[in-house]
Amino acid sequence: MKISMIATFAAMIVAVPAMAQDAGDPAKGEKEFNKCKACHMVQAPDGTDIVKGGKTGPNLYGVVGRKAGAAEGFKFSDALIKLGEAGEIWTPEDLEHYITDPNSYVEEKTGEGKLKTKMTFKLRKGQADVVAFLAAHSPDAGAAPAEGAAEEAAEAASN
Ligand code: HEC
Repeated sequence: MKISMIATFAAMIVAVPAMAQDAGDPAKGEKEFNKCKACHMVQAPDGTDIVKGGKTGPNLYGVVGRKAGAAEGFKFSDALIKLGEAGEIWTPEDLEHYITDPNSYVEEKTGEGKLKTKMTFKLRKGQADVVAFLAAHSPDAGAAPAEGAAEEAAEAASN
């Protein structure tokens, strides 16, 4: 009995990695996304607009759990393409760092200082909220669970 409850609890944690993440609030993030929508839309594959936005940047629907620089129909810079080739699958954590300072993030990850992204915007606060909002519109978010989630599940199972 006890074991099956623990197992159920552990499974729940694994199933909802976005909730195990620390404290991003998707509702706040949706407002914060006003800063992004001049350049980014969030549009589902069936054409439903979650946020109508510009086309300077890629559609951010499904970005959590997606390879960097791989959104369909967008011409990415070499910087983002190399980042994807280096194995970047966007996790919530990585996205928070990227939007804080895209160029230095790419430099850190690829080790190439000359690569410049086409994203000139930097978000200095509320990153976790925006990312929580994006995760809520990313069907593959579960494919890239936050590092903490697996550990918490293991811990819950061993208690
Ligand atoms: C001034 C326009 C502009 C604004 C504002 C902007 N971005 Fe971007 N963003 C871009 C461009 C252009 C790219 C493509 C970068 C490249 O190819 O180097 C990009 C790329 C991205 C990517 C990588 C997507 C992928 O598929 O790899 C993410 C994530 C992202 N932006 C998130 C955000 C978020 C979140 C905000 C708001 C906090 C934001 N951006 C604000 C222009 C913008």
